[in-house]
Amino acid sequence: MPQPYGLLAEVTHRCPLHCVYCSNPLALLDRQDELGTEDWLRVIREAAGLGVVQVHLSGGEPLVRGDLETLVAECRRLGLYTNLITSGLGLTKSRAEALVAAGLNSAQLSIQGDAAESTDLVAASKRFDKKEAAARIIRDAGLPLNMNVVLHRLNLDRLDAIIDVCVAWGAERLELANSQYYGWALRNRDLLMPGKAQLDDAVAVYERRKQELGERMELLWILPDYYEPYPKPCMGGWAQNALTVAPDGTVYPCPVAAEITTMAFSSVRDHDLAWIWTKSEAFQAFRGTDWMPDPCQSCPRKEIDFGGCRCQAFALTGDAARTDPVCMHSPDHHLVQDALVRANQDKAEAAELVYRRHTVTTRGH
Ligand code: SF4
Ligand code: FES
Repeated sequence: MPQPYGLLAEVTHRCPLHCVYCSNPLALLDRQDELGTEDWLRVIREAAGLGVVQVHLSGGEPLVRGDLETLVAECRRLGLYTNLITSGLGLTKSRAEALVAAGLNSAQLSIQGDAAESTDLVAASKRFDKKEAAARIIRDAGLPLNMNVVLHRLNLDRLDAIIDVCVAWGAERLELANSQYYGWALRNRDLLMPGKAQLDDAVAVYERRKQELGERMELLWILPDYYEPYPKPCMGGWAQNALTVAPDGTVYPCPVAAEITTMAFSSVRDHDLAWIWTKSEAFQAFRGTDWMPDPCQSCPRKEIDFGGCRCQAFALTGDAARTDPVCMHSPDHHLVQDALVRANQDKAEAAELVYRRHTVTTRGH
């Protein structure tokens, strides 16, 4: 039985942004659905008991919860590394200091682009200034500043400028995450999918800047899988090394799996994490290679990419057990090719970006 080392604690779906590629489920949970502090503390203890060593506090925007310090302190008591994944909106100097005092180890700040216009275009927010302030607050609090930007057709041409911003703000690491197309991003795929020439230009920028920056800032390139011949080894394989606990306590093998509506996932309200990890039907469904259909079952790459992404297979075909359509051997590969044909036409056909909407209530818990 594999052992998880990472827990993604999605403490809330509440968020001040409206990103057009949001990776949270299409049906967002409300504040009244969220686990309370005691339940989260139990989840953290159970995760540590299972072997987890890293806890990523995420959302939505995790800062909307007032009990983050309590959760971080429990992680520290148990010797777990904690990372805050934040939009930066709502981060104050005193909050950062309180989190550091509780034991927070690092923070990952997301940006949407290099300027206020790009934040407004992609996230319907004008608060780029808040992000710059948050970067300063994170650094002043003594935390390593990791940054993240989702890349797509609307900002790939600005890659040089985006990297400049992160250098200027003092980031130690920048994750250049090409958008993945499930959940909300699938709705906006025609407008977000880059063309091949645009992507090639961006790869050249990435390689040049990686060389130039050396150890000053680490650049990490997350592949746009539609342009690859083989799928990504998503999550290192289903239920292999990480788990996600959603705001309401439902436990998933990956952050997107709530979209697989044909599967039933268990909750920490009904079972402990160890049972869910080892015994629940959902976690066992695609673990290992026995479940694989052909062409994966007879493919020499089956231990390399594990048949690709289950969420992407479901999003594109309605069947999570099919070969990821990104794979050139998949019988459904035409679904990916068709999307690329549209992306490489002069103009994408979709009319307008569809923004994520969610009401943010005040801090609680
Ligand atoms: Fe991977 Fe399956 Fe494609 Fe082989 S056939 S490369 S295992 S997705
Ligand atoms: Fe869920 Fe790939 S995102 S398995």
